[in-house]
Amino acid sequence: MRKVGIIGTGGMGRTHARHYKNIGNLELLAYDVDPERLSGFCTDTGAAPAASSDDLMERADIVDICLPTHLHADLAVQSLGLGKATLCEKPMARTVADCGRIAEAAAKSSAPFMPAQVVRWFPEFRRAHDMVVDGAVGDASAIRTRRCGKHPQGAGGWFTNYELSGGVLMDLAVHDFDWIRWTFGEAKAVYANGVDHQWPAGLDYALVTITLESGALAHTEASWADPGGFRAAFEIAGSGGFIEHDNRWSPPLRTVNDKGTFNESPMAPADDPYFRQLSEFITAVESGSEPPVTAIDGLRAVAIAEAAIESAKSGRAIAPATG
Ligand SMILES: NC(=O)c1ccc[n+]([C@@H]2O[C@H](COP(=O)([O-])OP(=O)(O)OC[C@H]3O[C@@H](n4cnc5c(N)ncnc54)[C@H](O)[C@@H]3O)[C@@H](O)[C@H]2O)c1
Repeated sequence: MRKVGIIGTGGMGRTHARHYKNIGNLELLAYDVDPERLSGFCTDTGAAPAASSDDLMERADIVDICLPTHLHADLAVQSLGLGKATLCEKPMARTVADCGRIAEAAAKSSAPFMPAQVVRWFPEFRRAHDMVVDGAVGDASAIRTRRCGKHPQGAGGWFTNYELSGGVLMDLAVHDFDWIRWTFGEAKAVYANGVDHQWPAGLDYALVTITLESGALAHTEASWADPGGFRAAFEIAGSGGFIEHDNRWSPPLRTVNDKGTFNESPMAPADDPYFRQLSEFITAVESGSEPPVTAIDGLRAVAIAEAAIESAKSGRAIAPATG
């Protein structure tokens, strides 16, 4: 039975653990710098606690990095250096330079690596991708995405520290940047505007225009200024058709109570995008095939986010780094 070592037992660590248990035939090991959090996680998930991240890496066959974004790169490079199959939450790292270090380590290592760009497994985003690739809209010329929610906090409030999270463009819009690039091709230039709606340290609302190498124009709205619950939407206009989606049109199960607004899914566990993402990664590890998202994919999504941040600061259109 393979051992998966989860580093970081906060929100995403718990999500991943739940789905690994549904995949089955995997043993869990975990480490967190906060002993109480680690102990609660181990009680709830049945994971064995590791004494340190070094100890976890020694003992695990597969390393899963669910840490605050600024900590991804060092751990991913270490894990790949030890020859461990490695999954890393998105954004792959806080900067393009750090992504470059991971991509270099992944290229040198015999072990598989995957950045967890989970939007590729959300059914509407996946289906629209497949339809575009199959020519259902002809030449796609105008793409619009929208992703909104309330400002996340994270352990110790790390999301609210711009240096650590990169704000809404790096943390949230990176989902759409990856999906746009995967579906419509490389970005040529990025222009962005943003405001610090409720967070003086950095942008929590932004509008981004991306000129693609194909000549198509994409624009992305990303907001941490929407307390009304999570929202994701897209529109694709092409020479031969139009596709649109808004997750608020028919929220699966929407619950509002004094703790907030929650959208829950009645999906079977096997249809959950996080389950599908993790099972495809485990299958790639077991079969020795290339994982479906590469380090270069992770780097290029972060490069679009970094270009957008730079553009919002300078007022100029920026060409994203290619790594
Ligand atoms: N794919 C998605 O849908 C999605 C959603 C939310 C967050 N994320 C990403 O997942 C990553 C983790 O986010 P989160 O929401 O789980 O954050 P979180 O704050 O809930 O959890 C982070 C955990 O890491 C631990 N930690 C901090 N420093 C550590 C260290 N040096 N060693 C070991 N443990 C340490 C914290 O104690 C905490 O338990 C981020 O990169 C975030 O952008 C992805």
